[in-house]
Amino acid sequence: MKNALQIIAAAALAFNSASAHYIFQQLSIASTKYDVYQYIRKNSNYNSPVTDLASTDLRCNVGASGTGTDTVAVKAGDSFTFTLDTAVYHQGPTSIYMSKAPSTAAAYDGSGQWFKIKDIGPTFNGGSATWDLSQTYTYQIPSCIAPGEYLLRIQQLAIHNPWPAGIPQFYISCAQIKVSGSGSKTFSGVSIPGAFKSTDPGYTANIYNNFSNYTVPGPSPVSGIQ
Ligand SMILES: *[C@@H]1O[C@H](CO)[C@@H](O)[C@H](O)[C@H]1NC(C)=O
Ligand SMILES: *[C@@H]1O[C@H](CO)[C@@H](O)[C@H](O)[C@H]1NC(C)=O
Repeated sequence: MKNALQIIAAAALAFNSASAHYIFQQLSIASTKYDVYQYIRKNSNYNSPVTDLASTDLRCNVGASGTGTDTVAVKAGDSFTFTLDTAVYHQGPTSIYMSKAPSTAAAYDGSGQWFKIKDIGPTFNGGSATWDLSQTYTYQIPSCIAPGEYLLRIQQLAIHNPWPAGIPQFYISCAQIKVSGSGSKTFSGVSIPGAFKSTDPGYTANIYNNFSNYTVPGPSPVSGIQ
């Protein structure tokens, strides 16, 4: 028979697994921090992850469309920061992707090609891995990129409950940006869903068992960006 403490502990665990996650909810351009969800598409699943590899929710998160989201003007080369509600605390890699909208970012469903501009994987040192688990992630819009409207997508893949006993969790948000500048480069990429498979070594990796190398899922970051 369970005692009261066990029941409370079980309830706390259930509550935890349902709601205690994190969400990329706020964008900064250079040193200007904008309102929560002003330029980031608002999702409808609170701070929960996406786990279905075949779902279009993998693009920008559940219920996240361009309706009601503004598009921020940026210059190619500008730095940007994604800020979460609470720091990432499940181990796993963070990646940043972009996809050029055929017309406006607000009208774009993300069904085109996504190219990766940044991977943040683990650092291995003397048999242990360290991940960059942060509340902010900062990078730059490539300065060589063609002007136009884009979705700017950040993804943290939590692999703390190793596949196949557990299911890796994708934490995702998309910002809507309008890039100006004199660049001209365009990049091919991958489709989402489709870019991530349950056989990817970076998806199946067991961080608790002989974990000594890691390949971040998805394509390599595009080369020759500056
Ligand atoms: C540990 O991983 C390394 C690199 O992947 C591999 O060469 C080695 O055989 C593994 N050791 C065990 C005990 O599985
Ligand atoms: C680690 O390296 C081995 C040997 O090259 C490879 O088979 C395995 O997929 C790698 N693991 C990850 C998680 O990338």
